[in-house]
Amino acid sequence: MNASKNILITGGAGFIGSHVVRLFVNKYPNYHIYNLDTLTYAGNLENLSDIEGRSNYTFVKLNICDTFSLSKFFDLVEFDGIIHLAAESHVDRSISNPGAFIETNILGTVNLLNLARNQWKDKLEGKRFYHISTDEVYGSLGDTGYFTESTAYDPRSPYSSSKASSDHLVRAYHHTYKMPVVITNCSNNYGPNQFPEKLIPLVINNIKTKKALPVYGKGLNIRDWLYVEDHAAAIDLVFHNGKNGDTYNIGGSNEWKNIELVKKLCQIMDTKLGREAGESEKLITYVTDRAGHDMRYAIDSSKIQNELGWKPSVNFEQGLEKTVDWYLANQAWMDNILSGEYEKYYEAQYKER
Ligand code: NAD
Ligand code: DAU
Repeated sequence: MNASKNILITGGAGFIGSHVVRLFVNKYPNYHIYNLDTLTYAGNLENLSDIEGRSNYTFVKLNICDTFSLSKFFDLVEFDGIIHLAAESHVDRSISNPGAFIETNILGTVNLLNLARNQWKDKLEGKRFYHISTDEVYGSLGDTGYFTESTAYDPRSPYSSSKASSDHLVRAYHHTYKMPVVITNCSNNYGPNQFPEKLIPLVINNIKTKKALPVYGKGLNIRDWLYVEDHAAAIDLVFHNGKNGDTYNIGGSNEWKNIELVKKLCQIMDTKLGREAGESEKLITYVTDRAGHDMRYAIDSSKIQNELGWKPSVNFEQGLEKTVDWYLANQAWMDNILSGEYEKYYEAQYKER
């Protein structure tokens, strides 16, 4: 059994964070998991209803930008590790409102770094600050090549710039103050509990309700998709075995043009919903491109594969089936989101396109 530890996971009520919290609560009964989340539009405690009563789990509603309350919380609990996922995560929202991304992703991260540094000042041994980042910090690829850990940063959206900035700050705290850090940069995740502003759940929901499927530009942009539980498994490995100060890239080796992915979802959903083959594809609507839309992301994940023995376990066919099945079986989860702020966002986002 692992030694007991207090682990702080930020952003645990969001998409990826909820899968990481569940994995740690179930796999490490000896750890106490503190899920710190301010519950923005993207935070949803329904994602964790199956583990909310567990004795090794505590939810703490706090904003990482609220320095005063955060520091009071750090006075109460001494952490062995921090896994930092809390962030504003949607590129389109960063284009319409960059300020929130600067506040949470940069200033919020610095708050956490400062408080961890203060708490650990006399005992860095055995501590770990794990910053979860994105492949978008590396910019955009042409037809060939892959992002490696030594690819130069070239962020091109307010979202990716804010994540790049926080990555640099985490590394600066390592170099300057010897903070024990690790960083991972991951490709596009998909799976259950993803907020329907992101491509896959948005398309699933729109196919189900027979709404237009908005494809930006010509639909030729490429993303490298990874099933969310494979990302959570990688986070577990890096948290426990990653080398202090190192960066690891995580990706699915699974590149898809957006239009091909949307068509694939149409085929799966036609079968599942008993619709005629080709019916859902008729909903595809090409809309104005995203400003500054990165063309292609593709991760070289050989370092984490060779050094830590991680590899994706779910192939795309299985992963998409599981994802579609989850959304079809959890309409109440979607209805709760659709009854809130989401409708206003959707109207504003897609009206002009
Ligand atoms: P998400 O938007 O689904 O969840 C973010 C969570 O952070 C929400 O629960 C939200 O309430 C919380 N949060 C936001 N601002 C906060 C604040 N100021 N204080 C406390 N909590 C706050 O995001 P996600 O897709 O699960 O992404 C999680 C992390 O992984 C992010 O750091 C993101 O940059 C990174 N990432 C995401 C992907 C992806 O494909 N989704 C890929 C690579 C990396
Ligand atoms: O690469 C990792 C990143 O992946 C994460 O860091 C981000 O948090 C996450 O949101 C995701 O960013 P993307 O911008 O790649 O994901 P999104 O689902 O928004 O879009 C995927 C692709 O689909 C992208 O090329 C834009 C396109 N798209 C998106 C939407 C929402 C459409 O064509 N139509 C849409 O309606």
